[in-house]
Formats: sequence, structure tokens, C-alpha cells
Amino acid sequence: MAAVRDRKSGSPDKEPIAVLGMGHVGLPTALGFAELGWQVLGADDAVDKIDQLKTGKATFYEPEMQDLLTKHLASGRFQPTKDVDAAIAAARVVFVCVGTPQREDGAADLSQIEAVARTIARNLNGYKLVVEKSTVPASTAERIKRTIERYARTEPSANGANGRSTRSAVKGAAPRFDVASNPEFLQEGKAIQNFFHPERIVIGVESDQARELLEAIYQPLKCPIVVTDLATSELIKHSANAFLSTKISFINMISDICDAVGADVSSVARGIGLDPRIGQQFLSAGIGFGGYCFPKDLKALIYLAEEHGVPSGILRAVEEVNLRRIEVLMEKLRHALWVLQGKKVAVLGLAFKPLTDDIRESPALRVVGELLKEGAVVRLYDPEAIPAAQQVYPEAAGRLDYFRSAYEAARGAHAVVITTEWEEFRRLNWKKVQESMEVPVLIDGRNILDPSAMRDAGFEYFSMGRGGRPAVLAASTK
Ligand code: UDX
Repeated sequence: MAAVRDRKSGSPDKEPIAVLGMGHVGLPTALGFAELGWQVLGADDAVDKIDQLKTGKATFYEPEMQDLLTKHLASGRFQPTKDVDAAIAAARVVFVCVGTPQREDGAADLSQIEAVARTIARNLNGYKLVVEKSTVPASTAERIKRTIERYARTEPSANGANGRSTRSAVKGAAPRFDVASNPEFLQEGKAIQNFFHPERIVIGVESDQARELLEAIYQPLKCPIVVTDLATSELIKHSANAFLSTKISFINMISDICDAVGADVSSVARGIGLDPRIGQQFLSAGIGFGGYCFPKDLKALIYLAEEHGVPSGILRAVEEVNLRRIEVLMEKLRHALWVLQGKKVAVLGLAFKPLTDDIRESPALRVVGELLKEGAVVRLYDPEAIPAAQQVYPEAAGRLDYFRSAYEAARGAHAVVITTEWEEFRRLNWKKVQESMEVPVLIDGRNILDPSAMRDAGFEYFSMGRGGRPAVLAASTK
């Protein structure tokens, strides 16, 4: 424990923390620990990633992250390394932040987790706490434990990083270790802020030593710590994401009813959200949720429930509502333009949400796909995500073009569609946009603009569940 408690000394001979996997979870987490005063080894076997981090350039966009990277490469508290074995061998606490992508059947693909467990096993040169931070199905920690136990007895020692011997990892003589679960709740675009100001920290542990180590690491962050067993901690993460997804699909379903009866979903959300039992957040209706977590974690939880014979209808409905959002938006566009073939449509927003360049499972890209299918000419703009989107949809002059600003994308268009709720889009000079368009149709897929201001600016404006009374009802009550 002494080395852990001495973290503020920053002394290089103290045992560092190893963070395995330098992705959207691992990198912000590693830099967060460095800022809290720890020596951190950020390990990844993706050579390009590590090379780039060593040059001081963040590997993806995340507010405040570049500054932390620069600061802690200079302070020496963050050391990127491609030598995963050596990082594990040198550390007592090892955070596992590798990817858990989705398999075709919806289950989580845990092959990277299993590989890491074996790597840990062959570098078990003394007590280690292995902390699972990646989102994984309940019971994964148990499997990690069994894998380390099995391979620590059979795998040959790898290397003796920092001059340590790993010779103890021989048949029958494996050192003690603990596995803990400490799910991340980082939101992309707010990951650094979330790290330093968590609402809670969840730790699933099986020993006092594991609990004390984790409590010591997080001690500077003042928030409730929920201590549970391993499976409960794992399930907390999946349940949190599933519940948030449920809120979004719920309000999206209500938004369709709003469109049908002429009600306003924003006011419904406010009206229900002021009840603290419901809460205001995650009730923004629109074209639905995307990203690396919600769609994948929902599928994994459905798989887990069904694997254990637990009916998962509620989760399946959440997924179905979400998948239908793009069709709801396309219906509005067809209603406005009738035929989409040959129409120029500007799509504003490609990232799955603002403040990130991440396009994984982005609803915006699904909109682009549908537009192309219907023969529209798409004009794309996003403040951060164009390079990523170009990998999926390469430029095809006159059919699919990328622009440097929202104004350029909208010029000459028959419709503008807002697909990501970037702040920049709220602040556009919409009158100027309207004047530059061929036909002033505006579909606000994220409900970020004021309907009456947009109508005053001369737009035929449609949003998601805020359309006012439909023409047929309005006419019948005149
Ligand atoms: C999510 C969880 O919030 C986070 O706690 C977890 O650790 C990882 O997964 P993230 O994927 O970064 O984080 O994005 P989030 O901010 O939750 O948004 C997810 C998606 O839901 C986005 O596409 C967003 O546009 C959409 N969304 C969010 C809505 O459509 N409506 C809302 O009210 C909120």
C-alpha cells in the first residue's frame, strides 16, 4: 500500500498504474490519473497510436484532452508504450480499457479482454489488482479471473520489465491477484470533465485490499462510492446505459404522438422532467441515439437477458423505436420535397453527437445512406467529423460533397437537414442560409432551433414532435 499512498511524490521508482488500451476510455482515464498525481503507463499494441501519442498529438478529438496530454508527457507522469507486457509487469494496478465490440449475434466480443487476461497472467510477477473498466456483460470478471488463474500456471514468463523477474509465474506458484470491476461512465465530448467530476464511482470487489487500492486511487474525487460485488458492478454499467437509451426512445415515441396530435414534445419533456423522479436529462427527442456505447450495450444486454431466459421486450422496443427514427425524418423530407431523386440536400452534422469527431453508429450517417439510396445529391458539413466520414463515404463530386462551412453546404440546396446538435448550428445566421437556398426547407432532426423564428426567417420548417397542429386537424377546428 505504501507506494499507492505515496502517489503525490510522483517519484519514478514508485509502482505506476498501467492502463491497457488507449481508446476513448483508456486515454482520458490515463490522463486523468496522471493529473491526480499518478505515474501512468498507457499501453496499447497499436503501434501507430502509441507513436502518435509520443509525438504529443491526441489520437482523437476530446475537449481539454490535448492540453492534458501535452502537460503529462512533459511532467513524465504519462508514458505511452507499445510494450504491454512491460507495462503490466511494472504496475500493481492494471486498468483494462480495451474494446468490447459487438459480435454479429449482438453479444459482446470479448476476445480482446481474454487476450489481455492471458497477457496479465504471463506477467504476474507479484500481487496485482486487475480492474475491468471496459463495458462488459455480467460475469466477465469471473472469466478474467479464471483465465488468469489458468494461464498464470501454464504460460511461460514473458519478460522482466524494470529488472523485475517474472519467474514466479511458473506452474503451481502464481502470485495472488484480484479482479475488480470499475465501470466508466465517461461521455464522449465530456470525458475529461466526467473523469474529474463523477456523480458516483462504482467498484465491484472481492477483497479489502482491492477496495482500499481503488478507494486510494479515487480518493481526491469527491463523490459517492458504490461498493458491490463483481457481477453487480458490471450490471450497473449496462443498466445505466440501457435506462438512458430507454429515456431517449420513450421521448422519441412521445414525439411521434406529438406530431400526430399537434402537441409539442419539448414542453412535454419539460413538463414531465421537472418531476425529480423522472428528471430533465436525456429527454431530447430527435433522430435517436448512436455512438459506440448505447446501441452496442443495448444489444449485449438483450443477449444476456435472453441467454438467461429473461424476457427482454422492453429493451427490444427501445431498439426498434431508435431504428425507426431515420424513417421518421425521411418521411418529413419526402413530405416537404415529394421526390428526392436529384434534389440537393445539405446534411449538417456527421458525428453521433456534438464535441466529438466520432461517427460510430452515427444516426447522421444513416440519414446520408438513405438520401443516397433515394438518389439525392448530398452536401455534407460537420465541424470535426469530416475526415472520419470521408472514410465511410468518400467524396463523389456532384453527388456527395464535403464543405468547409454550413453556409457553403446549404448554398443552392433544396433542403437543409440538421442531424447533430452542434452549438455552432444554433448560432448560424439562418436568414443568410435561407436566402442562399434553392428551396428553403429546413428539417431540424435535433430540435435545436426555435420554430417560430425559423418560420419568420422564411423557412418551411419541420422538427421532431414540435410541428404544431397538423394541417388536417387545424382545418377541421377552424
Ligand atoms: C454514453 C453514456 O452517456 C456514458 O455514461 C457511457 O459511459 C458511454 O455511453 P456517449 O455514447 O458518449 O455516452 O454519448 P451520450 O451523451 O450518452 O449520447 C448518446 C447518444 O444519444 C447521442 O447520439 C445523442 O445525440 C443521443 N441523445 C442523448 C439523444 O438523442 N437525446 C438525449 O436526450 C440525449
